[in-house]
Amino acid sequence: MSTTTFDQYLMADHRDCDALLGALRQLAGAGDWEGAGSAFQSLRKDVLAHFAAEEEVLFPAFEAASGMTCGPTRVMRMEHDEVRDLLEDLSLDMSEQDGEGVRGHGEALLILLQQHNMKEEHILYPAALQSAGAQAAELSAQVIARREAA
Ligand SMILES: [Fe+2]
Ligand SMILES: [Fe+2]
Repeated sequence: MSTTTFDQYLMADHRDCDALLGALRQLAGAGDWEGAGSAFQSLRKDVLAHFAAEEEVLFPAFEAASGMTCGPTRVMRMEHDEVRDLLEDLSLDMSEQDGEGVRGHGEALLILLQQHNMKEEHILYPAALQSAGAQAAELSAQVIARREAA
């Protein structure tokens, strides 16, 4: 079994998604719509798979272990919905090669993800790791498997 715990894994995934968003904004800004398009496809696929691993595996495990079903995980799920809405906006911008749209929605997504990821990395992940206790390795394997599922 991997020795990587889910918090380390998901934090690295946050950084990778940040890099894809940075590439998308830069390429679209330079008018490289083909490059921007492939960065956007990767970003959307990775962010949605990351959210699935959190919403379907990590959050339910934390809710069950902590008894908190309407606290931090509820806020995180609402923020995921906001991110999904922005990805839809960006998808439309991309199909219309709307540079101003990508600039505005890309900026909004950057800020939202920075704030969201900060809360997960400093509050939710440490709490979830602690509440998992001896099950941390097994939970980590499940989170990683869901994130990497095709
Ligand atoms: Fe999240
Ligand atoms: Fe996350």
